[in-house]
Amino acid sequence: MKTEYLTPDAAGIRRGAEILRAGGLVAFPTETVYGLGGNAMDPKAAEKIYAAKGRPSDNPLIVHLGTKSVREMARYAAEIPEDAKKLAEALWPGPLTMVLPKRPEIPDATTGGLSTVGLRCPYPQAARRLIASSGTAIAAPSANLSGRPSPTTWQDVAEDMDGRIDAIITGARCRCGIESTVLDLTGSVPTILRPGWYPPYLIAHILGKDCVYDPALFAQPGEDYRPKAPGMKYKHYAPQAEMILFSGEPEKVKAAIAARRRELRAQGRSVGTLRFDPDDPARAARRLFAALRAFDRKGVDVILATALPEEDAGNFAVMNRMLKAASYRLEEV
Ligand code: TXA
Ligand code: MG
Repeated sequence: MKTEYLTPDAAGIRRGAEILRAGGLVAFPTETVYGLGGNAMDPKAAEKIYAAKGRPSDNPLIVHLGTKSVREMARYAAEIPEDAKKLAEALWPGPLTMVLPKRPEIPDATTGGLSTVGLRCPYPQAARRLIASSGTAIAAPSANLSGRPSPTTWQDVAEDMDGRIDAIITGARCRCGIESTVLDLTGSVPTILRPGWYPPYLIAHILGKDCVYDPALFAQPGEDYRPKAPGMKYKHYAPQAEMILFSGEPEKVKAAIAARRRELRAQGRSVGTLRFDPDDPARAARRLFAALRAFDRKGVDVILATALPEEDAGNFAVMNRMLKAASYRLEEV
């Protein structure tokens, strides 16, 4: 199929909405990463999304709303607890996905057969206008091929999806750079299933009660590792290169990376290094996926990366993606 490239103006959004209404797929910018959108109420659109990504269909799709009103949420969620209303008011539009009991009208193909649905109202106006003009909610996973790093520019989307989907909206670079915080509100304690830009203490502060991380986030694969967000169990965000994380005192880490680099180069392997400022998690988040894709384009064999201290919630969210990219290969030095 020939992919249309649409500008994020009124004409482009109108065309994108028309494609979505007709059951087609449109990639669009959000503040986190680019999404691969299809009509959330049309099981055929969900099937097309899984096919375009090459993704297992038991992985539920986030349902994106064009406005943050309770009325809009009620079209898709069977129950809207007070906590969900408070968080929508305080943090939407923004990088938060709330898992709530779903209405039966949402097809199983969209939610991977779960009885819950993840709802999110994205920040950029282009995204909200596209969704609102389509007249429905839009199911959208990240617009990368399954297993590749999430796309943070429309060019990244084109690299993976040109010829596989109907259209790409050529919007801005994503400001946040890592995917939304996924928060389960169906249990007795609000639980973060996927760490993102919104930290637990912010959610706890807004709700006036505890908010915890899903313990599965701290388990190593091979341990009893059963995350509640089905997507968290797949190998994700992986660059083509092999990636190794080094943690420890900064000076020791530097020395270890330099030594390993010499060793690998002597073996004729090309090496890239990745290091973020631990005091600037926003920048690390914004740049991580772009950096991984850049290494792939250069054909780097091995990426030697410096681990971030995880006490900071932003760094913790970035490290969650780095650990996956490295298939949990972490060397303490
Ligand atoms: O920032 C984002 O959330 C991006 C942009 C495009 O909005 N979307 C995104 O979608 O990251 P995706 O499909 O790549 O990741 C969705 C994650 C998966 O880990 C999935 O298992 C989880 O959210 N999820 C979705 N619905 C869920 C549900 N009902 N219960 C538990 N986890 C759910
Ligand atoms: Mg994804």
